[in-house]
Amino acid sequence: MKLIDNPMTPGSPSSGLQAYRASLLHFTADPAFHDNAYAWHEDGLLIVNDVRIQAAGDYAQLKAGLPPGTQVHDYRGKLIMPGFIDTHIHYPQTDMIASPAPGLLPWLETYTFPTERKFADPEHAREVASFFLDELLRCGTTTAMVYCTVHPSSVEAFFAESEKRNLRMVAGKIMMDRNCPEFLRDTAESGARESEELIRKWHKRGRQLYAITPRFAPTSTEAQLQLAGELATAYPDTYLQTHVAENTDEVAWVKSLFPKARSYLDVYDHYGMMRPRAMYAHCIWLDDADRARMAETQSAVSICATSNLFLGSGLFDFARADAAQVPLSLATDVGGGTSFSMLQTMNETYKVARMGGAYLPALRMFYLATLGGARSMQLEGTIGSFTPGAEADFIVLDPHATPLLERRTSRTNNLEELLFALALLGDDRTVAATYVAGRQLHARNDRAVETDLVL
Ligand code: GUN
Ligand code: ZN
Repeated sequence: MKLIDNPMTPGSPSSGLQAYRASLLHFTADPAFHDNAYAWHEDGLLIVNDVRIQAAGDYAQLKAGLPPGTQVHDYRGKLIMPGFIDTHIHYPQTDMIASPAPGLLPWLETYTFPTERKFADPEHAREVASFFLDELLRCGTTTAMVYCTVHPSSVEAFFAESEKRNLRMVAGKIMMDRNCPEFLRDTAESGARESEELIRKWHKRGRQLYAITPRFAPTSTEAQLQLAGELATAYPDTYLQTHVAENTDEVAWVKSLFPKARSYLDVYDHYGMMRPRAMYAHCIWLDDADRARMAETQSAVSICATSNLFLGSGLFDFARADAAQVPLSLATDVGGGTSFSMLQTMNETYKVARMGGAYLPALRMFYLATLGGARSMQLEGTIGSFTPGAEADFIVLDPHATPLLERRTSRTNNLEELLFALALLGDDRTVAATYVAGRQLHARNDRAVETDLVL
């Protein structure tokens, strides 16, 4: 693994005070529901003390308070914001991204299950996890909620690679005891036991967090869902993640498997799986009673636009979700999703909203990809903003990253237009650098960052 040490901080790379001069953006509220939802400092300064944010504000004001000798990393002309948060992604599906199939269920059969089988080999899991995390960092994503496979060693490999990079990651072992190939099947009992062992080993170890991960209702028996719900109650500060109401064939299948449930979501509710830190991917075919229940239990939605378009699953309904005030976040859903980039994900999310008659301003999309994700995960104050004391996970975006971006962004008239151009035209090339807990782990160009010393 190649970790890029911050070239301007010899010795301990994250020790002491570091300051970064750039335009700064971070959110304090959801711009869909509040005025003054964000802080924007055109000529800003971000001050990082070791692994945490100390201050974010105007350069002219904060500069005077810097102790003599503090290094100021000069990113003028670029934009610094909190690292992106991707609330639903499958690391074992990295190697099968962009595999064609006419819908979710044939895609799972043809590509997903054979690909996940390979994670019985811990060395394969380690190699894929390493590539996956570096790819997230290249795209500016510093936290993700990640599905591993049914193999506990796939979780061990993932957390070990995440810990090496000191990333704040959430991950879990898939629980799956029916309607899948024998080679990927656990049992209700072994799935719960192995999940509990992983919780005890990894949950809250450094920056790692555990998610109880029943794949989706069709691949779990009632006994397995019961035990997953019991684990979620026994360990209330763990996460829980699953898929719901993604595709009409899948919804019909769930109806036939659970005829007594009022709805697909109600299957999970019945087993005690709706609560804060529960993350439900897709949520396309919910009804208003489901949405009300999501809001009431503070369960959150992962909106997976690129995946939903790719697999022809449907369009997420923003108007109804917002009317119910459901916690929302954005996700790539790789490998059903077609990009690791949250900027490309915003691009397609915007179009999904338009097709459904809603309008998503760029400010809202950047909120959803940062503070909205943190709030959906109950991590506000820890990640997703520059509030003092938050963990210093941040990215540097370059509005001049490509000739077209440079041309377009030099003609924008306000912040919304600038962010809109970044969301619609941006991708991994737009991410000039990614910092994790105060330490630079990705730099697009190997050129040293210009620095001036405050004397
Ligand atoms: N539903 C159950 N498993 C999966 C998966 O791996 N990807 C997607 N998109 N949907 C699922
Ligand atoms: Zn998924």
